[in-house]
Amino acid sequence: MKILITGANGQLGKCLSQTLREEGHVVLTYSKEQLDITNRNQIREIIQKLKPELIINSAAFTKVDLCEKEIEKAYVINGIGPYYLAAESKEENIKFLHISTDYIFAGDQFSPYEEESQAVPKNIYGKSKRLGEELALVFGGDVTIIRTSWLYGHGGDNFVNTIKTLSERLDKIDVVDDQFGSPTYTKDLVNVIKELITMPSGIYHVTNSGSCSWYEFAREIIKFLKKDTVITPISTRDYGSKTPRPLYSVLSNKKLNSTGIYVRNWKEGLYEYLEKECIYKYED
Ligand SMILES: NC(=O)c1ccc[n+]([C@@H]2O[C@H](COP(=O)([O-])OP(=O)(O)OC[C@H]3O[C@@H](n4cnc5c(N)ncnc54)[C@H](OP(=O)(O)O)[C@@H]3O)[C@@H](O)[C@H]2O)c1
Repeated sequence: MKILITGANGQLGKCLSQTLREEGHVVLTYSKEQLDITNRNQIREIIQKLKPELIINSAAFTKVDLCEKEIEKAYVINGIGPYYLAAESKEENIKFLHISTDYIFAGDQFSPYEEESQAVPKNIYGKSKRLGEELALVFGGDVTIIRTSWLYGHGGDNFVNTIKTLSERLDKIDVVDDQFGSPTYTKDLVNVIKELITMPSGIYHVTNSGSCSWYEFAREIIKFLKKDTVITPISTRDYGSKTPRPLYSVLSNKKLNSTGIYVRNWKEGLYEYLEKECIYKYED
């Protein structure tokens, strides 16, 4: 299949590009500099020239705190970008696959969110991503939305790399213990995307299975790295971020599982990621 990937320099974009190429697809990778998803004319020009059979949008403005300050930029990239891509896909009869987030949910329930659960985002990032979902679906057509959470991948600016770097220079790191989610390895997400490409369109939740708090996630990283750094649990309130975040944003993979696809536990994904990043071996 001829596949166009936007945001190809992001952590998910990189993994998608490499894996889909290895699968034998013709993969056309476009970074922000090569294709700005907020530029409708550029989108049209590139799509009409390349005539892909599938567009995967992994481009986004993902810096959650910065979105609170750069509100217009957040809505334009995360909301209007998917709208332009969906419009062009519909016009040219191309399948469109868009990536979204657990942050579209409020996080005030204590059981995993399903695809049809009510979206009530708490912050600008979540609101702009929710707008992107709605606008991606507005034309109808062959559109699939994949919501994922707490993503990390090679070459990315992510929580795992932050904790790893901090542990090299700090004896103690305070980490929030009252926000829960499912850490997800890009490799595991992409392995599912590979399958969803040829499946009926719709909204799918795709994360590694199981869940934890950021504190538990950090502890597991430190354990693997065999560092002495002490991870101290703190509350969201004590952490003091001004950006509201969902306290519980675990996504249910039930719909995905009903298609026969299961994703391994987050710890297994994390160990493989860290092994590849650091060449250390995990011992319990
Ligand atoms: N990271 C997470 O924890 C997480 C969790 C749930 C869902 N998601 C979703 O997963 C998807 C992939 O995220 P990721 O973690 O791979 O993010 P990422 O590493 O930040 O990658 C996003 C890429 O999009 C690019 N981009 C920004 N504005 C653009 C524009 N106007 N046109 C084209 N490209 C643009 C970015 O370039 P610059 O960096 O140069 O701006 C970056 O290369 C996103 O839809 C995100 O919302 C992420």
